[in-house]
Amino acid sequence: MIITIVGGGSTFTPGIVKSIALRQKELEVEEVRLFDIDEDRQYKVSLVVDWILKDMKSPIRLTVTTDKRTAYENSSFIFAQMRVGKYAMREKDEKIPLRHGCVGQETCGCGGLAYGLRTLFPMIQVIDDVEKYAAPDHWILNYSNPAAVVSEACRALRPHARIINICDMPIAILEMVGRCLDIPNFTDFDVNYFGLNHFGWFTDITYQGRDLKAEITEYVMKNKTLLPPDVLEKLKEHDRVGERHLNASWIHTWNNVYKVLQSNPEYLPNTYLQYYLLSKDVVEESNPEYTRANEVMDSREKDLFEGIDHYIKTGEVTAKAFYHGAHGNYIADLAMALKNDTKKKFIVIVQNNGAIENIAPDAMVEVPAYIGKNGPEVICQGPIDDYYKGLMEQQLASEKLLVAGGIEGSYEKVWKAFSMNKTVPSATVAKAILDEMIEANKEFWPELR
Ligand code: NAD
Ligand code: G6P
Ligand code: MN
Repeated sequence: MIITIVGGGSTFTPGIVKSIALRQKELEVEEVRLFDIDEDRQYKVSLVVDWILKDMKSPIRLTVTTDKRTAYENSSFIFAQMRVGKYAMREKDEKIPLRHGCVGQETCGCGGLAYGLRTLFPMIQVIDDVEKYAAPDHWILNYSNPAAVVSEACRALRPHARIINICDMPIAILEMVGRCLDIPNFTDFDVNYFGLNHFGWFTDITYQGRDLKAEITEYVMKNKTLLPPDVLEKLKEHDRVGERHLNASWIHTWNNVYKVLQSNPEYLPNTYLQYYLLSKDVVEESNPEYTRANEVMDSREKDLFEGIDHYIKTGEVTAKAFYHGAHGNYIADLAMALKNDTKKKFIVIVQNNGAIENIAPDAMVEVPAYIGKNGPEVICQGPIDDYYKGLMEQQLASEKLLVAGGIEGSYEKVWKAFSMNKTVPSATVAKAILDEMIEANKEFWPELR
């Protein structure tokens, strides 16, 4: 059994490999292959991956390659996590809209649309390469962002691809809920959820007969945040906490859950709704000279590559060098459910086909599904109220227009996609941002006419 990681040079690769190695027996995995187009970056990351496998006395073989056939031949699972244009382009996705007074975010608003136009065709290329070389019953599990746009492009261009698009935000929110309520077993929470990627709501969270959705709503209303007590304690003395999803501007994000929940206490919102429902607040909280891309380059990426240099010099890997947790566990557990036909529930991004009764059947939605060897069996959510339907349909139309515009090379459609995004106040602002984005993305975007 072979697992290939596309974007082998990612900051998340060490953590994901550790999650795989911890499940070596259940996955019966014999080999992990790293594939990337940046040979140097991937080579460095592979040093720490190699150390992890040795440190764990894992029987897993490691292959590191930039050759597609070597990467995919007979592979059973392909975990994709590439960042097309890397952090340098993420920085532009964030800073260009901010210069025009709009939300600057890697997956939401104009930044997300721009990143989507960069990623659409490279993702289709991965699907085609995998289909050519990998095991016929392979699964591609895709984390590459922006997952909403990527999944719509896959649906439109490769509807039969064996791909499941996923996001770690719902599980990260559940982890935070568990910490707030002092229940460590967040992976055992029973949940219901609906929405689009980075645009959804938990309708139920229960655990051992407890209504955790009610409990967490009360907690957020009382504490004005979804941050857990130990973090609030630490923040009294330090202005940051070094954990993933708690680092720097993520603190604003967890606090903003309170504002979103105040505006609609019915369901627990995904943190990403802040960009659409609190656009003005988020822009005011942003520093147009120093965005999340800068924070990541100065923390996660820096810690990893400094950690690798330190390892090369001393043979020692420090705890700070890489993150291991829910992100890697989620994708490895999903592979385990597919391989061993467990029918465990996961929130995944799939074609709607009636799961949300009053949303178009071809919409790519994020909902819970039972995962077994034949893929996701989606759990029906019934009809949703106008508030959610209206918000989702506007966002969906924006993402669908973007993908159609990218495929057809249509400036008009992409402009419409930017204009109708809820984060953008006017078609003229949309055009100004789009024109700067075209310039910045020359190397990556299809030509728009
Ligand atoms: P990173 O820049 O550290 O790593 C990305 C790697 O992808 C780089 O090594 C780069 O060279 C490589 N790459 C770029 N284009 C490629 C291509 N065409 N083929 C193969 N490799 C390519 O980025 P990161 O912060 O570690 O994030 C990796 C990806 O995972 C991003 O897309 C990020 O948005 C995504 N992510 C998604 C979720 C989710 O919830 N879906 C969660 C975390 C990260
Ligand atoms: C969450 C989202 C991911 C996103 C990540 C960004 O996990 O679900 O889709 O990539 O946050 O985190 P970062 O630390 O890179 O800002
Ligand atoms: Mn995500």
